[in-house]
Amino acid sequence: MAKEMKNERMEAIVSLAKRRGFIYQGSEVYGGLSGTWDYGPLGVTLKRKIMQLWWQHFVESRDDMYGVDAAILMNQKVWQASGHVDTFVDPLCEDTVNHRRFRTDHILKDNGVDPDGMTMEQMDAMIAEKGIKSPDGNPLSESRTFNMMFKTHVGATFDEKSVSYLRPETAQGIFTNFKNVVDNFYPDLPFGLAQQGKAFRNEISPRDFIFRSREFEQMEIEYFVHPDKWEEAFDELLAETHTFLESLGLSKEAIHELDVPEQDRAHYSKKTIDIEYDYPIGKEELMGIAYRTDFDLGNIQRVSGRSMEYTIKGTNEKFIPHVIEPSFGVERALMAVLSSAYREDEVNGEKRIYLALPEHLAPVRFAVSPLLKNKPELVEKAREVYTLLKKKYGNVMWDDNGNIGKRYRRQDEIGTPHCVVIDFDSLEDNSVTIRDRDTTEQRRVSISEL
Ligand code: GAP
Repeated sequence: MAKEMKNERMEAIVSLAKRRGFIYQGSEVYGGLSGTWDYGPLGVTLKRKIMQLWWQHFVESRDDMYGVDAAILMNQKVWQASGHVDTFVDPLCEDTVNHRRFRTDHILKDNGVDPDGMTMEQMDAMIAEKGIKSPDGNPLSESRTFNMMFKTHVGATFDEKSVSYLRPETAQGIFTNFKNVVDNFYPDLPFGLAQQGKAFRNEISPRDFIFRSREFEQMEIEYFVHPDKWEEAFDELLAETHTFLESLGLSKEAIHELDVPEQDRAHYSKKTIDIEYDYPIGKEELMGIAYRTDFDLGNIQRVSGRSMEYTIKGTNEKFIPHVIEPSFGVERALMAVLSSAYREDEVNGEKRIYLALPEHLAPVRFAVSPLLKNKPELVEKAREVYTLLKKKYGNVMWDDNGNIGKRYRRQDEIGTPHCVVIDFDSLEDNSVTIRDRDTTEQRRVSISEL
């Protein structure tokens, strides 16, 4: 994690994520596997809450969205038809001495040159002109393209026919089910199919914590529209995207739209707006919304020989629908949530770290403690309160480790909005102390009010 963690705030977040059981390096016990991350008990809860919120926002609360969950391994024709076999590539250059490999555009960025819009040849020319060396100080080779799909074989034979790929986007599992859903549900246009799930990319240089990893999770919608009506659908989904990002607690000021210039757009896109976020590592892409035209359904029809046309009900009007695709990376949303929630302040002359997570995303909503863990009557009363809250809210933690100060610090770091403490007065008057994470203010409330 050397160069890429150049930023103190980012390092503090990574350290907290590990220390408090959110995110660990993948295969850490064996020295790690670059570009992979494991989620601990709090991380998996936070991640699921983000995914559930997205599903609720974009699928369950709408009449025009349908969910699917397609297989990760797909017929190799999917990736030939989609263009991924030929064009899902990044520019790669090599240190000519130690043979370490780098993404050419990242090398330029790290040397203060903006590679956006440059062809591979222009990037090489810039490296030569500026005399840019590898991070180890050695000359760099000319660039070549590197396909990012993980290749594998399905079944017991290892030949060209058995080749498959770990999907690099969830989108294709949606397109290949378009006709199934149309035939089963007869949805009116416009309508969308949504999917959440793992995607895999053999990134040349995974970096910046979970921001660029080799295995990650996507939340994607393919929204099918009449070719003449793509613009209004694009605007509507862009507006919904902003509402969703707000519901993650991200401030509007930290969110930016980038109208991606043609030369930087994916091969299938006629228009793309990237939503960028002010991460501690800088302003970077959080998600993208693209107008994919009829590129994918058209290719499926051509390669499979099956019609992907849609007929407007009660008419003879038949066409291949066009597509608007909002595509979110879960890890990038999660990293934005952690970055926006991370706070440092001072309480009673001591530095305090806390996560100001929105209450609906906090992995633990209430922590319940007896003031003293060696007083059975306090423990019994605290258990009563714990059970009550657990039944009501689910994500409630029992915490009797260390003294109260230590418990508060631990709960602050995991973003628990409320700590409830049961003391001797509670036995008399059924009241408890409830402490607010953000203000650290303590109030006395009756148990029934909780
Ligand atoms: N289906 C379109 C598509 O996959 P993309 O811009 O390549 O488009 C969509 O990826 C989103 O997936 C990105 O905006 C980002 O949030 C996430 N993503 C892409 N590559 C990633 C990586 N290596 N690590 C983490 N997230 C990634």
